[in-house]
Amino acid sequence: MKKVFIETYGCQMNEYDTELVKSILKSNEYEFTQNEADADVILMNTCAIREGAHTKMYARLGDLKRFRQENKKLVVGLLGCMAQNLRGDLERSENIVDIYAGPDSYKRLPEMIESVRAGSKKEYDFSLSEFEDYSDVYPERVPGVKGWIAVMRGCDNFCTFCVVPYTRGRERSRTLESVVGEAEKLAADGFKQVTLLGQNVNSYKSNGTDFADLMVGVAGVDGIERVRFTSPHPKDFPDKFLQVMAENPKICSHIHLPLQAGNDRVLEIMSRSYTKHDFLRLVDKIRNTVPGVKLSTDVIVGFPTETDEEFEDTLDVLRQVEFDSAFMFKYSQRKDTIAYRKYADDVCDDKKTERIVKVNELQKVHSLNRNQAEIRAELAVLIEGPSKRTDEQWMGRTDGNKVVVLDKGDFQKGDMVCVEITGATANTLFGKHVGRFADRQRANIKSNQREKNGEIPGA
Ligand code: SAH
Ligand code: SF4
Ligand code: F3S
Repeated sequence: MKKVFIETYGCQMNEYDTELVKSILKSNEYEFTQNEADADVILMNTCAIREGAHTKMYARLGDLKRFRQENKKLVVGLLGCMAQNLRGDLERSENIVDIYAGPDSYKRLPEMIESVRAGSKKEYDFSLSEFEDYSDVYPERVPGVKGWIAVMRGCDNFCTFCVVPYTRGRERSRTLESVVGEAEKLAADGFKQVTLLGQNVNSYKSNGTDFADLMVGVAGVDGIERVRFTSPHPKDFPDKFLQVMAENPKICSHIHLPLQAGNDRVLEIMSRSYTKHDFLRLVDKIRNTVPGVKLSTDVIVGFPTETDEEFEDTLDVLRQVEFDSAFMFKYSQRKDTIAYRKYADDVCDDKKTERIVKVNELQKVHSLNRNQAEIRAELAVLIEGPSKRTDEQWMGRTDGNKVVVLDKGDFQKGDMVCVEITGATANTLFGKHVGRFADRQRANIKSNQREKNGEIPGA
């Protein structure tokens, strides 16, 4: 059997795709190794979202040269968004890559690897499909507590800064039956939490069913205790969906709601399809419908032509919403995108740094406030594994997606425990368990429901 080493960069969708690739290769009699030096095939599943992702990949390809020197028959493949984004450029450039495969071409990988082994110089497939959803492939997952399911692929939003619609093609949803079927298998494999994935996950649509129906379907699977989703777009939040979130105790009360910018002119030229006012109204609606909901966001600073004054609107939204956490990025110009064709990258790097520092400082205060407000709350925590710092403690997450560190007690990975929060930093909550639940599911329901009803302080 040939050995494959595979490395993943980028978002959770790429992690999921790697599991698909492993499944496809495994059924073609490949096995896997954690050690590049051992491998007959090295695959890199790449990301293209910002320039940093590309830079990292070029450095890694340089690094891989030594394995080719040691093993002349080594096959190197570049998969995913960067391969798709740089198509022609990569084919023409000098590097050690033998195979290029975009996100819709993974079923052809065994055949492509065989061709290279049989002497073909280069193999590439950049075709994007309107139909490929890999519903017929059951991902090869590392056993654990949390599993991902991609419920839709691609994106039709074309935000002007974003490369994803070009690297992943048109939006397509899987059927509800196929997603629920996969969740049932996940539960049978011992997973406790499912995260439904899509670039634009809440625009899921299939045979008359929508995202709310899908969430309810997955939450109805026995053995699955928590359902999460990422990333939604602010344009698709019907009341029905928020109602389902509020009422279904297995659907976690956390929404990652990417803001990107706070100024109306900037939002307009980003093609985000909402204004500052719309966004703030949506946050109110979410908080009024789903009490105790936790919110996180993404922010881009230094989009072309953004002025200091316009950037103040981003800070203003952050202040008004006080997100539980936020990811911030300097605008990075991406090949193919609308912003790339229309605008020069005219906000200098110093300015972007200055803005990102401001966003960071503000968010740190908010994250700390939000976390400190949880102190003394009793929350259901799903234990994911050892804490980063010490094997003596567990790390788990609350329904609202906050990290909690607690003493190990006699709990196991995958246990749902009731924890009283005793301390907080901007990134982490600390707690002590106040009891094991005989019936974890009921406990989860009770604690979530109390949090949702606003009975728990800070919720
Ligand atoms: N589909 C997701 C976004 C995936 S990309 C969504 O719509 O929420 C994750 C984040 O990367 C985006 O929310 C955005 O904040 C950031 N991002 C995307 N393109 C970028 C670019 N060209 N420069 C900087 N940040 C970018
Ligand atoms: Fe990119 Fe916008 Fe699609 Fe998200 S919704 S993947 S930011 S184009
Ligand atoms: Fe990166 Fe592609 Fe995900 S660009 S963020 S790996 S969709």
